[in-house]
Amino acid sequence: MTSRPADRRRPGLSGLLGQGSQRLARAGDESAAATARILLCHALDVEPARLILCPDPGPDQEQRYRDLIDACAAGRPAQYLTGRAWFRSVRLAVGPGVLIPRPETELVVGEAVQACRDLVARGIRPVVVDLCTGSGAMAASLVCEVPTARVHAVELEPEALRWARRNLLGTGVQLHPGDARTVPAGMDGRVDVVMTNPPYLPEALADEVQDEVLANEPGSALFSGADGLDLVRDLVPRAARLLRAGGILVMEHDPSQQHSLPALLTADGHWDRIRDHADLTGRSRFVTAVRRDEGEVVEG
Ligand SMILES: C[S@@+](CC[C@H](N)C(=O)[O-])C[C@H]1O[C@@H](n2cnc3c(N)ncnc32)[C@H](O)[C@@H]1O
Repeated sequence: MTSRPADRRRPGLSGLLGQGSQRLARAGDESAAATARILLCHALDVEPARLILCPDPGPDQEQRYRDLIDACAAGRPAQYLTGRAWFRSVRLAVGPGVLIPRPETELVVGEAVQACRDLVARGIRPVVVDLCTGSGAMAASLVCEVPTARVHAVELEPEALRWARRNLLGTGVQLHPGDARTVPAGMDGRVDVVMTNPPYLPEALADEVQDEVLANEPGSALFSGADGLDLVRDLVPRAARLLRAGGILVMEHDPSQQHSLPALLTADGHWDRIRDHADLTGRSRFVTAVRRDEGEVVEG
């Protein structure tokens, strides 16, 4: 392989990374260096681990990178520009019409994975339902980490379903188009784990949501009524019907729902061991609860 002779007037890989990162930092990106690297890899069509082995970019590649930096600085999410997002151990296709999976959701799936592994250790093949799957991130990563699990994923919005179909193809996950309040049907009492990251942002807190999120990501994936719990109020009894006694619910929520969501579960009356969990920054982010055996109350 012949390498391109270095052009002293061109900035080279590290110069481009530095310039891009400064530009993004000025635009408010708190992970500007990481974003610039992702965009440079995309412009050069190279995996991040191989970036260091790349010859300096030619003028077309450099222009492509600068265009990506411009678009990102103007508020377009890097994941929509590259069409890719990483979630735990899986790479997903994402774009307009679907929520970009978030790092805090990786913890929610971690809890579901652990619950499934405990069952596998007891010789049980877990049945899992991912309500409101969006890109399919939670379902795809769970089945990747617990390959014996039988995973069902539900999504209502046609645009999001397009991405979920693409990401779940060949994974063995069964995708159910429809409303999570009623779909999948015929599984009541047969599910071991329900995991869900539903739309939960309170409309009352819309002013606090980043402009970039509001401008790009679908509102139907974000908001659910004044306190954010409109859909959750239906999903809690729905999960109680799906789960067998002793089955586990793992549900992401907004930090403002730290007390209201556990209270909602308590009022529903079908749950034991209701616990709230924080993310890595210490903010309250998801609840777990065990489906009560109606004949026997499990001590918390
Ligand atoms: C917060 S996003 C979560 C997506 C994905 N689980 C993730 O963590 O990246 C919520 C998803 O729920 C979907 N959704 C909203 N209402 C729904 C409903 N009634 N039934 C099924 N899906 C719904 C939205 O379209 C969106 O894709």
